[in-house]
Amino acid sequence: MNILDLIDKKEKGEKLTKEQLKYIVDNYLNGTIKDYQMSAFLTEIDILGLSEEETINLTDIMLHSGEILNLGIDNLADKHSTGGVGDKTTIALAPLVASLNVKIAKMSGRGLGHTGGTIDKLESIQGFKTSMSLDEFKNQVNEVGLALVGQMGNLVPADKKIYALRDVTGTVDSIDLIASSIMSKKLASGAKNIVIDLKIGSGALVENLEEAKTLANLMVKIGKANNKNIACVLTNMDEPLGYAVGNSIEVIEAIDTLKGKGPEDLTNLVIKLGAIMASMSLNITLDKALEKTKENLSNGKAYQKFQEWIKAQGGDIKNIQIAKNSQTITSKKEGYIKSINALEIGKLARKLGAGRLSKDDKIDLTVGIILKHKVGDYIKKNDELATIFYNEKQITEKQLLSCFTFTEEKVEKPKLIIDIIK
Ligand code: URA
Repeated sequence: MNILDLIDKKEKGEKLTKEQLKYIVDNYLNGTIKDYQMSAFLTEIDILGLSEEETINLTDIMLHSGEILNLGIDNLADKHSTGGVGDKTTIALAPLVASLNVKIAKMSGRGLGHTGGTIDKLESIQGFKTSMSLDEFKNQVNEVGLALVGQMGNLVPADKKIYALRDVTGTVDSIDLIASSIMSKKLASGAKNIVIDLKIGSGALVENLEEAKTLANLMVKIGKANNKNIACVLTNMDEPLGYAVGNSIEVIEAIDTLKGKGPEDLTNLVIKLGAIMASMSLNITLDKALEKTKENLSNGKAYQKFQEWIKAQGGDIKNIQIAKNSQTITSKKEGYIKSINALEIGKLARKLGAGRLSKDDKIDLTVGIILKHKVGDYIKKNDELATIFYNEKQITEKQLLSCFTFTEEKVEKPKLIIDIIK
């Protein structure tokens, strides 16, 4: 076997066997296949795609390129989001689901997004430990029902190396490569029950519904082929989720949600995802699970579990810092808000210092933007639209105003949950 013949084969539209795919992944990992050769191969996949069987095989090969986490705890649940602006879902969802006696052992990323990843956000809670030994992790999951840390162990090294190359060769958007990348990592973290929040829209990995459905179906097939309970929830990411876009301000919004005072969209999402996870893990109907998730949000049990979890990881929620400087932007127009460009809001939050452009950038956990309104709201001239919390770096009023569009006609609130594929 050699890489040139295999690239040639793919170019002719022929399928590769599992052995051939394994040859490529193994030899790329050990350095025999060079970046430029792998880049040519990934480009072929990006253009011509893989068959379903090839994608399932590639996922399995990537999965077995490193350790697979086995905590010896049955029936764990896990959730993954493809990422969006203002996405603080995990911080409210994980304790809600754990409060229903579903065990969660979650690893999250720092991310190169417009704001930090879940782990960065949680670091705005003073003292919160984002790493621990495997034994501590396991004990906490058993005792508290929930532990959440940064990446640990050598899980899916093939994805790390291939993803870094995809990032600089314009091959991140291949549906087959996204499916195998996400699913190899989910499978490696060992949970039996998996929910994927697949965001669609301007601030998301996938912008169009057809592509999102293809990706969702593929991930569900890979999950099932690996004996997992899996559901993929397609959710709207044209406007930011909730009102807060930053790090510490997102944690505060997640806490408000657990106290029953959160934004409507985030609250509904957390209830729906939570119910799907509980229904799979406890083997109860979705209706029964919905009833239980709503109950635990309103009776304080989800918030209690959150406090227990944060304390177990050394955090103190009394002292979450927000930048001292703020500027509130008011509307120069009147009408219904037609759109709030999630991607542009995300970029502005990053300009304030809330996110990274490269992996070594330091982020400012205290800055960000809090919207005062959502799409569909009616706004009068001089009504408040958003508040900017900033330190050294600031953005202009004009930049923020350009994220909003208005219309005289009534605008329906966008549907947050577009579809569920399982
Ligand atoms: N997130 C991943 O983990 N992998 C991809 O390929 C894209 C998004």
